[in-house]
Amino acid sequence: MFMDSKTLLINLLLIAPSLAAESMSPNLGQDATEQSKKPEWNLTITPDGKNLPAGAGTAAEGKLIFAQKCSGCHGPEGIGASAEPLVGEVGSLTSSYPEKTVNSYWPYATTLFDYIRRAMPIDAPFSLSVNEVYALSAYILDRDGIIEPNFELNQYSLPKVTMPNLDGFIPAYPTTLKDLTDERTLYIND
Ligand code: HEC
Repeated sequence: MFMDSKTLLINLLLIAPSLAAESMSPNLGQDATEQSKKPEWNLTITPDGKNLPAGAGTAAEGKLIFAQKCSGCHGPEGIGASAEPLVGEVGSLTSSYPEKTVNSYWPYATTLFDYIRRAMPIDAPFSLSVNEVYALSAYILDRDGIIEPNFELNQYSLPKVTMPNLDGFIPAYPTTLKDLTDERTLYIND
């Protein structure tokens, strides 16, 4: 069963784009399926601290780790190098030069643990121990006096830390009684 030349041409035209797409693929990376089965990839720390692992760290310990593993990109004190500033500018959000840092902007301290644990250092994610992540979180929070210098961060104390911008977010959908009575609540699709 030979194809006539017209059918052959149509078939070639149909196949060609998929062949071209395949040969143009850079073939980089690896299948995410196996990686995503790893328990550490599926550990999400919620704002109230649920899923925080056992461990502890202080700002003094974090200072040493930060100097070794973070300062190259974030600056020696957490600000002033190529990557995002992590500290400082608390209270600047309502000024004419608002600066979003972890300490000025983030509403929950527990997010700091989750983010560092899964994403930093950016070139070696998941390489830090639990204690190192608590210590680094303590160091960053201590830089702006959000915690006391010797305060030990662990799974019980971290959720109790109140971030300066906790009340700076406007609820788009009311989920609590507080949201319902907050006059800033936006009612989307109202
Ligand atoms: C090789 C460079 C590099 C190193 C080393 C590095 N970071 Fe980062 N970090 C970045 C970049 C780039 C971003 C911004 C990522 C983005 O916005 O997607 C970032 C973002 C962050 C953020 C979020 C900031 C924000 O406001 O969104 C935190 C927190 C953080 N890093 C902590 C750390 C800690 C702690 C270490 C050390 C363990 C570290 N980083 C090491 C490059 C680095």
